[in-house]
Amino acid sequence: MPEYDPLADLYDLEYGHDHDLPFWLALAKREGGPVIEWGAGTGRLAAPLAEAGFDVAAVEVSGEMVERGRDKSSAVEWVRGDMRNVKLGERYKLAICAFNSFLCLLSLDDALGFLRNVKEHLAPGGLLGIEVSAFAPEELRDDYGPGLRHDLTRELPRGELERFSVSRYDAASQILAMRLFYEMYGPKGNLESKRRHELVIRVVGRGELELMLRLAGFEVEAMYGGFEGEPFTAGSDQLIALARRR
Ligand SMILES: C[S@@+](CC[C@H](N)C(=O)[O-])C[C@H]1O[C@@H](n2cnc3c(N)ncnc32)[C@H](O)[C@@H]1O
Repeated sequence: MPEYDPLADLYDLEYGHDHDLPFWLALAKREGGPVIEWGAGTGRLAAPLAEAGFDVAAVEVSGEMVERGRDKSSAVEWVRGDMRNVKLGERYKLAICAFNSFLCLLSLDDALGFLRNVKEHLAPGGLLGIEVSAFAPEELRDDYGPGLRHDLTRELPRGELERFSVSRYDAASQILAMRLFYEMYGPKGNLESKRRHELVIRVVGRGELELMLRLAGFEVEAMYGGFEGEPFTAGSDQLIALARRR
């Protein structure tokens, strides 16, 4: 079962941010459409890109996420499929893989398989943008880190959502396993329900990402450390790669 199915009803509550949208919009304006987003979630980026007038296809493996995405925007062409091997039969000028969707690929073979699939879907000279979190060393500990962390509080129409997590990093496999604890409170502060979910990602650094892109036949044009096009440094929170199909 896709890992995100059980999280789909909470996704838009957890991740309502859009500070990355101007970056992707500017890129779409520069490169032109059509645009494809890989691992599109519920369309946090795909929907506003389509609203801005671009032809947008969104690939997503979780049926629950796709369902919510379709409700959000019928202007997006939603494709339920696995980004490692799904075939759309179209060529795009811009491909986006944002907000850690790339880290859901848990092995080198999966990551390379995905990059080769992206290449098949890009028009000659087309551009791929990948954005992933750049983790600080203290976030990548092999024990359960500093213990239970409070990640977020969100207002609900009637009540509140709290999320806590513990994570464990295995440096040998680069796998970061997160255990997420959700608590839903009612209007009077009473705990109404709680649930637990396991999420696993594979952490990727700058050199590895660059090498994988080259190996898959891309020309790496830029490595940024943020959405303003800042250089990537040891203190960056994001790693953004822009790579062109040769
Ligand atoms: C952290 S979310 C990011 C969603 C979206 N890109 C955003 O910016 O909000 C990662 C998404 O990638 C999807 N995903 C993971 N593996 C995938 C795969 N092999 N093929 C397609 N989608 C995948 C997950 O189901 C999830 O919706």
